[in-house]
Amino acid sequence: MLVQSLFALAAIMPGLFACPGHDNHRRMPNRKRQAVNEPNATLPSDWAYEASYNWGKLSKDYVLCQTGTQQSPIALSLGNGLSLNHIPVFNYPANVSGNFFNWNYGPAFTLEHNGDWTSHPSFDYDNETLYLKGWHIHAPADHSVGGDRSKAEMHFVHVDAEGHEAAVLAFRLDPGNSNSTFFNQFPSMISFLEPDVQETMDIDLRPALDSVLHFNEFWTYQGSLTSPPCHEGIRWFVARQIMFTGVQQMQAILGASTYSARAEQEVWQHRINE
Ligand SMILES: *[C@@H]1O[C@H](CO)[C@@H](O)[C@H](O)[C@H]1NC(C)=O
Ligand SMILES: *[C@@H]1O[C@H](CO)[C@@H](O)[C@H](O)[C@H]1NC(C)=O
Ligand SMILES: *[C@@H]1O[C@H](CO)[C@@H](O)[C@H](O)[C@H]1NC(C)=O
Ligand SMILES: *[C@@H]1O[C@H](CO)[C@@H](O)[C@H](O)[C@H]1NC(C)=O
Ligand SMILES: [Zn+2]
Repeated sequence: MLVQSLFALAAIMPGLFACPGHDNHRRMPNRKRQAVNEPNATLPSDWAYEASYNWGKLSKDYVLCQTGTQQSPIALSLGNGLSLNHIPVFNYPANVSGNFFNWNYGPAFTLEHNGDWTSHPSFDYDNETLYLKGWHIHAPADHSVGGDRSKAEMHFVHVDAEGHEAAVLAFRLDPGNSNSTFFNQFPSMISFLEPDVQETMDIDLRPALDSVLHFNEFWTYQGSLTSPPCHEGIRWFVARQIMFTGVQQMQAILGASTYSARAEQEVWQHRINE
């Protein structure tokens, strides 16, 4: 029971984990809509997005947030060109199981995990295969493009075979003329996305890839987590295509979200598109 409650706590304390940690990967077959009942676990951590300029001063553990050479997010533009290298090739199955929840800052989904990361949906780039741990949404978007900031940004967090965070796929989200097939899978977005519940679901991730043409055009760079401790060594892929949602879908996403964009960082050793 203790272990279980720690998992539950981890699920709703993003401050202890990065961006978030997606550690609530246990299936809960008997309760569709499970309360994660840790009293006050949703109290703020020791950092806040509204004060992201000084994270490095809050704790010795966060010093990279201030001194790192590859901090995320950064401003991108067509002036950077688009990447001709590191082309991602996806191997996502039709049906994945996981927990839909609110990471305190917005909608999120953690894939069920059986101990073997290599059984997860994956993508290859260069000579590496990376495995999807989960996705979450920030609002507004972390990455601006040509000075334009989307209403939200979805991060698909990928790990290596040992489970270390290694790459993030970024989808910029804006309202458009039709409902998104991907978000149609989460009809109850508004009603249950309080910070203390999660729901086991089977979903198809591929419509998200379809909506950005499978990253046929993208920027890539060497970056970091966008929340403390700001660890580096994360390869970012930012799709050029915007993923459009219905107006009500975007309102549902924003309604479930709290301000969660880190200030953009100076470009330094990010090697954009190199
Ligand atoms: C939770 O925090 C609130 C506000 O700080 C406090 O009033 C309340 O007593 C706390 N509840 C528990 C169970 O600790
Ligand atoms: C998805 O997989 C689960 C088992 O992992 C199964 O119960 C469910 O019926 C599948 N859903 C679809 C739409 O195939
Ligand atoms: C992939 O591995 C092959 C064989 O080890 C090597 O020749 C090639 O340079 C590698 N490619 C990249 C992009 O790392
Ligand atoms: C999107 O879905 C909502 C809710 O089902 C519906 O009311 C709305 O008409 C749909 N919008 C479009 C453009 O299809
Ligand atoms: Zn993120």
